[in-house]
Amino acid sequence: MEVIICANEQQVGRIAASRIADSLGRRESPVMGLATGSSPLGTYAALKERVDDGTLDLGRAQFFALDEYWGLSSDHPNSYAETIRATFTEPLGIDPARVHVPSGDADDVDAACDAYEQAISAAGGIDVQILGIGSNGHIGFNEPGSSFTSRTRMKTLTARTRADNARFFGPDFVPTHCVTQGLGTIMGAGRLVLTALGAAKADAIAAAVEGPVSAMCPASILQFHRYATVVVDEAAGAKLQLKDYYRDSFALLPSSRRPH
Ligand code: GLP
Repeated sequence: MEVIICANEQQVGRIAASRIADSLGRRESPVMGLATGSSPLGTYAALKERVDDGTLDLGRAQFFALDEYWGLSSDHPNSYAETIRATFTEPLGIDPARVHVPSGDADDVDAACDAYEQAISAAGGIDVQILGIGSNGHIGFNEPGSSFTSRTRMKTLTARTRADNARFFGPDFVPTHCVTQGLGTIMGAGRLVLTALGAAKADAIAAAVEGPVSAMCPASILQFHRYATVVVDEAAGAKLQLKDYYRDSFALLPSSRRPH
């Protein structure tokens, strides 16, 4: 696993975008996995700079979001479909027809989840998946206890996740369920780029990167991926034991591997 500790959020975004651009640049019709939350916003801003200056062409790319709240239609203001539209699709000038988000209100949820998996396969698989991390170690909405081989499916949100996300909803209503790509789906991506910011993520990052691989910390499955990059700010990386080693590794990167 490549672990990069950055001075600030802007640097986190720039370095994550560099790793993403490297992965996408290799394919004629690239496929990117999108995440919601505050963590990827700097990455999206840095990707936008590359699109605007012509160094990154997303004109033929397809996009698949990680997850969606169950019970929200795609035009609900708090749906992830709407969040992805507002934070990624519109600012980067992407054709919305090429952006896929799991349905939060399908009549047949299991069939919709299977169809989502098939759409990812039909696109050729995800080249690079952007990830954030929940304070309990979840990725997407794969809560602790999620199967490492899980595919896109409905899950129940934990009380902690509902409390963490309550700020987006009124006090009376936080969804209880979601639809999320599974850990097996996420692990099928060619590269994983996880970003985390702030002290509230320090325990989750330490457990994911240096703890035992365990369903109790779903993000720890990244230790089994060949090409996983974790980019954190100082606060999110504060509890990593091998901080000095990660810093040395980054400083000593050969020029061909340095973020650009
Ligand atoms: C939600 C999303 C996750 C995201 C997490 C962290 O629970 N389902 O994909 O990683 O929030 O969000 P933030 O980046 O805002 O801390």
